[in-house]
Amino acid sequence: MLAIIGGTGLSKLDGFKSRGREQCSTRFSAEPVVIELCEFDGVTVAFLPRHGKAQAVPPHKINYRANIRALKQLGVTDIAAVNAVGGIHKNLGPGAFAVPEQIIDYTANRQSTFFEEDIATVTHIDFTYPYAECIRQQILNSVAAVNAVIERPRACLDGGVYGCTSGPRLETAAEIIRCTRDGCDMVGMTGMPEAALAKEAGIEYGSLAFSVNWAAGLSTELITLDEIHTVFEAGMEFVTAVLQGIASAYH
Ligand code: HPA
Repeated sequence: MLAIIGGTGLSKLDGFKSRGREQCSTRFSAEPVVIELCEFDGVTVAFLPRHGKAQAVPPHKINYRANIRALKQLGVTDIAAVNAVGGIHKNLGPGAFAVPEQIIDYTANRQSTFFEEDIATVTHIDFTYPYAECIRQQILNSVAAVNAVIERPRACLDGGVYGCTSGPRLETAAEIIRCTRDGCDMVGMTGMPEAALAKEAGIEYGSLAFSVNWAAGLSTELITLDEIHTVFEAGMEFVTAVLQGIASAYH
């Protein structure tokens, strides 16, 4: 089964029919993880808004382990995640998209592995390619199909390096210069440890990254939440259409 993990602003899947909720208890949280089952085109997908239904959970407070374990318990094999990012690559201005290929993890103090207590089975997972190529291609195919039928197609970078910072504050200009030097094409706060935990859980994982601002220092303007929200609102229809296309591919 496919799961969609919703990012900032994505707390429901427009155009999908709700097929009820699952409360998944895991040993990683006191409260069960609530996962919505949603149907599109006869395909049922698991939907998990990582910031919560009310968008009240900031990136550094997300219980990534409970979320991924809950999806695993539900039988999820594939994840298409949506991640808001600040653009660094010249083609990743506000409103553009990317389907990243690589990750640099700058986060600290996050519970980032399932292999903590059960040392007997400790495993150093191979993480050379953090994103599953099959999911990347599904996302890219869906983006291309949506772009083919809309008036103003969205730019979408095939590949790129996602730098993950801890947040919740945005970066300094110097931090973005360092990220750029490191080879980052975009910067976000939620890609890790989500991608690594999915890998540990044996779930194929891919991301649709949505640039909602230029990363710090790359434009003459300071980054405002209002601006981010405007870009976001304008792109939600596209995101929804891409997610519907991805779901359809699971027939
Ligand atoms: N930095 C980190 N995370 C983000 C940004 C950013 O500029 N924009 C949206 N998420």
